Amino acid sequence: MTTVNKHLLKDLSLKTKQITKEALEEGKLIEGDTLNVLKKIDDDVVNVGVTSPPYNKQEKQKGWLVKNVVYDIYKDAVPEPEYQQHQVDVLNEIYRVTAPGGSFFYNHKIRWDRGNMYHPMDWLRKTEWTVKQEIIWDRVIAANIRGWRFWQVEERIYWLYKPIGNYLIGKELKSSDAKLTSIWRGVPEDGRKNPHPAPFPLWLPARVIISILGTETQGVVLDPYIGSGTTAVAAKLLGHKHIGIDRSETYLEMTCDRLDNAPSEMSKIQEELALHNVETTAQERRIQGKNMGKYRPTDDKKDDRQGTLFEGANDNELSE
Ligand SMILES: C[S@@+](CC[C@H](N)C(=O)[O-])C[C@H]1O[C@@H](n2cnc3c(N)ncnc32)[C@H](O)[C@@H]1O
Repeated sequence: MTTVNKHLLKDLSLKTKQITKEALEEGKLIEGDTLNVLKKIDDDVVNVGVTSPPYNKQEKQKGWLVKNVVYDIYKDAVPEPEYQQHQVDVLNEIYRVTAPGGSFFYNHKIRWDRGNMYHPMDWLRKTEWTVKQEIIWDRVIAANIRGWRFWQVEERIYWLYKPIGNYLIGKELKSSDAKLTSIWRGVPEDGRKNPHPAPFPLWLPARVIISILGTETQGVVLDPYIGSGTTAVAAKLLGHKHIGIDRSETYLEMTCDRLDNAPSEMSKIQEELALHNVETTAQERRIQGKNMGKYRPTDDKKDDRQGTLFEGANDNELSE
């Protein structure tokens, strides 16, 4: 039996809003339907969340490069309007359990069905969240290679924000804004290392948590579709509490095992932390006359589209 199994709860054993910040200790993993379980969490408990929900892919789009995504007890196939309304309901519950000033990062993708495009903004605009940014996750490889369109190598990550009062903009990013752009490049997790059909690479939830919570610890991190537990592992290694929900007992057992062995994944967290080495806001850098992140090509002959933010800037200038 894993040491964290004592944190693994069944939805039915919980009362409405029973999960409070104080009751979390290290964290909670809850087996049940996401929407039902969210109702067991008290208001304003969560500081930051990140998730990748099931995409309603109808389980028929077999990829040529990666294996088909098939969950153990769940058919990812409901009528699209029903799917979108369910996601709105889930996102609004996540909004309720998130503290004002908190953020949620929602990973999804553009899909097509018989020529009709479904874009995540179609339902995100119907939620209570302020959509702060659309981040492109450049996964480098395509899941489906057919000639109907250019190969879709990207997914999207929506940074959703719960404002404090009427101020929709919120605080400036503290540590990571200067080097990180709105395009995050990184291949999906290697299926040979993680048997879950669609796991996050560890750097992704780690980047979210570090960017929002900085050097704070003891925050509460939510992943309402926790799968193999990547978000919980990132939260634990960065000193935070986690709430993870999944309807699959098998995947929650994977999460328990990974949490038990979390220190073995620390090197990946350290790689991510190394990217967050700028400690001043853009406004502070402007006041100090320091680098403001202008585009700087190093080679005039180089194609402009290949340019990188801060190219040519020396490291001392960046890590003040
Ligand atoms: C894309 S996977 C998440 C993978 C996760 N990010 C990781 O790193 O392993 C989506 C997860 O949602 C779970 N799931 C799907 N529908 C659910 C529901 N209605 N309630 C709870 N969990 C659900 C699936 O079992 C699956 O593990």
